[in-house]
Amino acid sequence: MCPESSWPTFLIVFLLPPIPSDLPNIPSRGLPVFISEFSCRSATMLLLHRAMVSGLRQACRLRSAPSRLCTQACSTNDSFQPQGPSLTVSGENSSTKGWRVTGALLGLGAVLAYHHHRCRQAAQESPHIYSKEEVRSHCRPETGIWVTFGSEVFDVTEFVDLHPGGPSKLMLAAGGPLEPFWALYAVHNQPHVRELLAQYKIGELHPEDTTPSTLETSNPYADDPVRHPALKVNSQRPFNAEPPPELLTENYITPNPLFFTRNHLPVPNLDPDTYRLHVVGAPGGQSLCLSLDDLRKFPKHEVTVTLQCAGNRRSEMSQVKEVKGLEWRTGAISTARWAGARLCDVLVQAGHQLSEAEAHVCFEGLDSDPTGTAYGASIPLARALDPAAEVLLAYEMNGEPLPRDHGFPVRVVVPGVVGARHVKWLGRVSVEPEESGSHWQRRDYKGFSPSVDWDTVDFDSAPSIQELPVQSAITEPRAGETVESGEVTVKGYAWSGGGRAVIRVDVSLDGGLTWQAAELYGEEQCPRKAWAWRLWQLQAPVPAGQKELHIVCKAVDESYNVQPDTVAPIWNLRGVLSNAWHHVHVRVAP
Ligand code: MTE
Repeated sequence: MCPESSWPTFLIVFLLPPIPSDLPNIPSRGLPVFISEFSCRSATMLLLHRAMVSGLRQACRLRSAPSRLCTQACSTNDSFQPQGPSLTVSGENSSTKGWRVTGALLGLGAVLAYHHHRCRQAAQESPHIYSKEEVRSHCRPETGIWVTFGSEVFDVTEFVDLHPGGPSKLMLAAGGPLEPFWALYAVHNQPHVRELLAQYKIGELHPEDTTPSTLETSNPYADDPVRHPALKVNSQRPFNAEPPPELLTENYITPNPLFFTRNHLPVPNLDPDTYRLHVVGAPGGQSLCLSLDDLRKFPKHEVTVTLQCAGNRRSEMSQVKEVKGLEWRTGAISTARWAGARLCDVLVQAGHQLSEAEAHVCFEGLDSDPTGTAYGASIPLARALDPAAEVLLAYEMNGEPLPRDHGFPVRVVVPGVVGARHVKWLGRVSVEPEESGSHWQRRDYKGFSPSVDWDTVDFDSAPSIQELPVQSAITEPRAGETVESGEVTVKGYAWSGGGRAVIRVDVSLDGGLTWQAAELYGEEQCPRKAWAWRLWQLQAPVPAGQKELHIVCKAVDESYNVQPDTVAPIWNLRGVLSNAWHHVHVRVAP
């Protein structure tokens, strides 16, 4: 029996506005980040939209084959037996007729959505039992797309096109278990995603078929390295973590175990003896296949470079309005002394030279998703070939082999440029007329106006982020702390992209009414080659009788670029380039 269902649900479905177009419009992409931020509200809309679409599809089918209406797989004696409507009304002009047909279809769609919903409920109450073989045979659009999770079977045919990570990603699981993919993209393991999946349930797996295979239970992150417990973890799988602020500026050179980590995928475990870097040669030049020893034969170059993720301080942007991305605080930035071969030397050996035509150096990592899609990014050839730009194929970090999380055995280091281009676990280098086709180059790490949303965003319209804007943040005291009356010590970091030296950091204790210049320390650097941050400190008297301080900092670089005073005008849907004045409120001990 199809159970009695609530008509209000059906009415809500019918009255719903269209599905938010950010969901189906999100282009196919190689990473699950959008799934992770797939909000409960969107999930609910998707559920309701799904019911409506399903009903409409049936209504459309009905137009060509009305008799098929009641043959839907639903073993119920549901009394609802709709009649095929007459959609033709004589004596009307075509526009009126069109509206009538549309109205009829919508109405019929809604009725069928209700019917469909009742049938689903019945299926959930007395589940149909399917064998693994039956599930496996549903792996193409013609057969319908089924998947399993645990012992449950789901028909996700209608959801495939709506999958926020792109249809191709969901199709990887077609006819089989979701577990191996959810293990990789652990963000799926959330109540609202499970709830969404539950709506597609059509039955249960035969008990004999529910024993998971080794692959199903395998965890692609099981081999990830052990991390320092002080790191503040923003996501465990893939691993993303930042050092706490007070440790960040404890040392000018960030100790390797505390260096922030930004991974999109599991960390590959590469054998340094068999590792090879493929460098595609120029036409007429020679392609190179370099072992670690080969790379060490190039002149060794060392440089101190600060690496900052484009998402650093995103958490402040999401306070203005929701953004898609990990909630980085002030710690998605760190500094190391890197050593390796200069990219320009390696490229020249492969026959590359600067050409008139625009060209890009594309990098591919050896970390990849289940489709075999590797992390990738690119930088302009002009920067790569410029010895003064000091772009490295680094094999050492602070005098040690690179730690696994930071790209062992070889990564790219591009001084002055956003972290996303510093490709880790480097496997391949090629020179191309266009930027890397990678998702992370073309569909992410770009800035947009605050008025651009997921309905209107056109990723092709914006350049990929390369050099980052001027940045600074307060690391001590922490927000909400109580400081001693008398004197306060404020500490922080400041850095600018493109090698632009920080020339001044202004600090205010009264929310920006008055300012004092902080003392800068750390390595002195050449103008236009200031690749590393300056740490700064201000010791200032606390005005008598003050119960709290509103501390603010802002940096100025050698081009006199300054940080914007507020976040809202630089808000963007991906929450990148968050560099407004940094504010910290503290109490003063009586
Ligand atoms: N390279 C590969 N192969 N895979 C990645 O996920 N993440 C990029 C970049 N290089 C990434 C990568 C991003 S977005 C950043 S910010 C930096 O690595 C972070 O480097 P770190 O983890 O050493 O701090």
